[in-house]
Amino acid sequence: MTQIKNIGLFTSGGDAPGMNAAIRAVVRTAIYYNLQVTGIRRGYEGMINGELFGMDEKSVANIIQRGGTILKTARSEQFKTPEGRRLAYDQLKRHGVDALVAIGGDGTFTGARIFGNEHDMPIVGLPGTIDNDLLGTDFTIGYDTAINTVVDAVDKIRDTAESHDRVFIVEVMGRDSGLIALRTGIASGAEAIVIPETKTDINALCERLEHGRRDKSSKIVIVAEGDDAGGGFEIGRHIKEKFPHYDTRVSILGHIQRGGRPTCMDRVLASRMGVAAIESLRDGHRNEMIGIIHNEIAYTPFEYACKHNDEINPNLLRIVEILSI
Ligand code: F6P
Repeated sequence: MTQIKNIGLFTSGGDAPGMNAAIRAVVRTAIYYNLQVTGIRRGYEGMINGELFGMDEKSVANIIQRGGTILKTARSEQFKTPEGRRLAYDQLKRHGVDALVAIGGDGTFTGARIFGNEHDMPIVGLPGTIDNDLLGTDFTIGYDTAINTVVDAVDKIRDTAESHDRVFIVEVMGRDSGLIALRTGIASGAEAIVIPETKTDINALCERLEHGRRDKSSKIVIVAEGDDAGGGFEIGRHIKEKFPHYDTRVSILGHIQRGGRPTCMDRVLASRMGVAAIESLRDGHRNEMIGIIHNEIAYTPFEYACKHNDEINPNLLRIVEILSI
């Protein structure tokens, strides 16, 4: 095994609050161990185009509190081809990079897995996505900030819903995962939660709204964007059709969920994982995602980390049922 001297670092896919804290931790830990760091802008796309530059401890000063990613991010079609990956490898070699730290979600790790099998390049990944949809970690970097943003928004929506005696359908992100919807639904006291992991029965949902406590002035339904019955507008349309007497509004929270200052939880998570990324490369780990399970650092092969997890904690669903009467 050749000794690692120069670590390439990039963020890829959708950004997530806390990515900057992870970048800072990776760079400073590498320097602590006398390693060089090469920053790569715009993920795999920038790797192919040679957007590589040297980083030092000062390059990451004053970023721990900032949302987004100073390395920028992109989704690359070219990297999906063997020719694109060959170009990326040649650029890394030209810049003396001999190992990579990738921060991103399942698309990032799928690319990393293929690249790591094709070329002699040790790679470890840090889970950076608001969706929390990766196996091998209890929480992903950005999830805590995103759910707090959602709860803050839904609290505000509740104020106006109460004033107008309205039903609000609030659509949250998560792609094909309902984990943002589930936790934020509990935390905001939603009357119902609609998620892709469970089959949505529109009639049962309407029943629930109609036969819940009559004296409730407002009702809030949190809908995960990837639900099998459709997103917020579709669910809203069904409810309006069924109950024309309800004053119904749909609110799509959208990309507001991806921005903002990372919470303390996300900053600490990112810092711990960033340190572990460099230490794990030094210890010979490759093609693995660094996670934290039960408060301990855990290593999961990329292949397994990307497997979609449809399991949802039934107790959390039960809690909604009990508490929203
Ligand atoms: O994966 C993060 C995420 O924000 C998903 O929740 C959402 O479906 C998707 O990215 C949106 O992607 P884009 O910013 O490309 O529209």
